[in-house]
Amino acid sequence: MSNSTVISKKNYSGMIIAWVCVFSLGYAILRYHIAGTVPWKDFPFFIMNKGISLAAFILLTFNFSLGPLNNLGVKVPEGWLNSRKALGMTGFLFVLIHALMSFMLFKISVYGKFFETDGTITLMAGLSMLAGVLSMVILWVINLSFQTYLSEDKAFIQFITSRRFLLTAMLLGAAHLFFMGYKGWLDPSGWHGGLPPISLVAFVFFTTGYVINLFGRK
Ligand code: HEM
Repeated sequence: MSNSTVISKKNYSGMIIAWVCVFSLGYAILRYHIAGTVPWKDFPFFIMNKGISLAAFILLTFNFSLGPLNNLGVKVPEGWLNSRKALGMTGFLFVLIHALMSFMLFKISVYGKFFETDGTITLMAGLSMLAGVLSMVILWVINLSFQTYLSEDKAFIQFITSRRFLLTAMLLGAAHLFFMGYKGWLDPSGWHGGLPPISLVAFVFFTTGYVINLFGRK
C-alpha cells in the first residue's frame, strides 16, 4: 500500500454539531426572546451562553451514549459512531466557553435567584456552581488524556478514559443543573410559552443518555 493511500471513514461530526447548535440556540431564542421577555440586546452573551451550555450537554451526552445505544441493538449509523470523539471534544470546548461567559455574567443583577439579599450566594447556587466547576475539571482531565505525553502512563490513562470517569463528570454536570433549576422545573405555570427551562431540557437529555449507557455498556 502506498503512503498516499487514505482510508476515508464516514464522519458526520460537522453536520451533527451544526444541527445541535441550531436546535440549542433556536430553543434559547424561542424561550427567552420570543415566548419570554428578555430583550434582544442580551442575545450575544446572556442568551448565547444558555444556547452554548445546552449544545455542550447534548454533544457530551451523544459522546457517551451512541456506543451503548448501538450495543442495545439500535443500528447507529457508522458516520455517527465515528463522530463520537469530535463530538466529545467540541462539547468540552463549548463547556469552556460557557464557563468563561458565566464567570463574567455572575452578578446579582443578572442572576438574582442565585443570591441572598445581602449579596452572598445561596446554598443551592453554591452546590450548583461547585458541581459545575468539578465537572469541568474532570472533562478537562479527560481531554488532557488525549495528549501524547500522558499516554505513556497506561494505568492512569485507562482510569481517566474509562466510561466511569466520564459519567462522574456528567453526573456532576447533572447536579449543576439540578441545584440551579429544580424549583423552576416544578412550576410549569412559570415556564415562558409553556416551554421547559433549558436546565430541564439538558437534564432530560442526560438522563436518557445515562439510562442507555447503563443498559448498553459492555
Ligand atoms: C466552571 C464551571 C461552570 C460554571 C461557572 C457554570 C456556570 C453556570 C451558570 C452561572 C449557569 C446559569 C446560566 C443561566 O441561567 O443563564 C449555568 C447553566 C448551565 N450550565 Fe453551567 N457552569 C459550569 C460548568 C458547566 C458544565 C461542566 C456543564 C456541562 C457539562 C454546564 C452546563 C450548563 C447548562 C446546560 C446550563 C443550563 C442553562 C440554563 O438553564 O439557562 N455547566 N452554568
